[in-house]
Amino acid sequence: MHLMCIVGARPNFMKMAPILRELDGLSGIRTTLVHTGQHYDKNLSDIFFEDLQIRRPDVSLGVGSGTHAQQTAEVMKAIEALLIDLSKSESPIDRIVVVGDVNSTMAAALAAAKLHVSIAHVEAGLRSFDRTMPEEINRIVTDAISDLLLVSEPAGVENLLKEGHPPDRIHLVGNVMIDTLKSQIDRAKKQNILAELRLAPNQFGVVTLHRPSNVDDPKVLEGLLNVLSQTSREIPLVFPVHPRTRARIAEFGFQQFLDACPTIRWTEPLGYLDFLCLTSQAKVIVTDSGGLQEESTALGIPCLTMRENTERPITCEEGTSTLIGNSIELLAENLRRVLDDTYKSGYCPKLWDGQAAKRIAAILAK
Ligand code: UD1
Repeated sequence: MHLMCIVGARPNFMKMAPILRELDGLSGIRTTLVHTGQHYDKNLSDIFFEDLQIRRPDVSLGVGSGTHAQQTAEVMKAIEALLIDLSKSESPIDRIVVVGDVNSTMAAALAAAKLHVSIAHVEAGLRSFDRTMPEEINRIVTDAISDLLLVSEPAGVENLLKEGHPPDRIHLVGNVMIDTLKSQIDRAKKQNILAELRLAPNQFGVVTLHRPSNVDDPKVLEGLLNVLSQTSREIPLVFPVHPRTRARIAEFGFQQFLDACPTIRWTEPLGYLDFLCLTSQAKVIVTDSGGLQEESTALGIPCLTMRENTERPITCEEGTSTLIGNSIELLAENLRRVLDDTYKSGYCPKLWDGQAAKRIAAILAK
């Protein structure tokens, strides 16, 4: 069986790493790893291959950035050509494996579906019910055309059933992102990043913001940067700045926030191990990242989620996440609870046990 595993952007790499490792350990399965090149900066791409010891991609498409339509179209064209090429070889692709909800995920799935190549979608069924998020469109489209729907939390199964997907295509397998976290946590804790940033365990916060809804509107971004400056007077913060956010800060002339806050450590985006070293020893995480909501729940670290909704409800219901939207009052109130040690505690959801990739590989191998 020949499987094509497709990655494109930062959150894909830690999801695909354990799946690829499992598949490569099975006899009778051949994998081709394709990197679309949606993310291409060293700190958003190569560093994850090094940190997670992922083998080099067999094919790099180098599609790069663009508008949604441009990027989606470039990935579709390149994946279509590759699939057609391989269909003429002695080893055509039997199924593609896509993960998550980025543009590369949906584009690869669309190209495969039109060529009648089967699709397995890992992290299927998640819904924020907010179609202004590009990722929500990507999730709905990818699931609609996938043959195997591999789900990380029970809400995903419910959503897929409500949408009319046949039950025999849906498998609750757990969370592959947490497989990677569990396998790397000991290595991560040996990183030097706390000393480099002059931080003490449990006495700092980690911030990431990159969603268009938080960083593309100058009023919203200014409000968030203001609260972060105020918070940093009580507890030092580390803020690895995504290229989109850095570009908006420059465009809106908000550089003064970066210059005026010595207790916020603004850094380039960090590699997997450095970042996990920080998040696993943080007092609090403030983020709009879906992946980080899940990782903080697995780590038991309070997570204040700067979003109005989440496609990962279990992180709020069972885990350590609270939806803050962009309310400055709610953020301040919940930070107070964290600092006073009265913030809720959570637990790690069932099947987020480090074995999700094994379950996925067993299903794919059938
Ligand atoms: C993408 C995903 C998002 C994910 C995020 C993680 C989509 C729709 N969005 O958002 O779900 O949470 O990745 O980071 O797929 N850029 C660089 N270097 C790079 C890549 C991008 O500087 O290596 C800059 C470019 O100016 C680009 C912008 O960042 O236009 C946005 O990149 P893009 O991949 O379109 O979306 P992200 O915001 O990274």
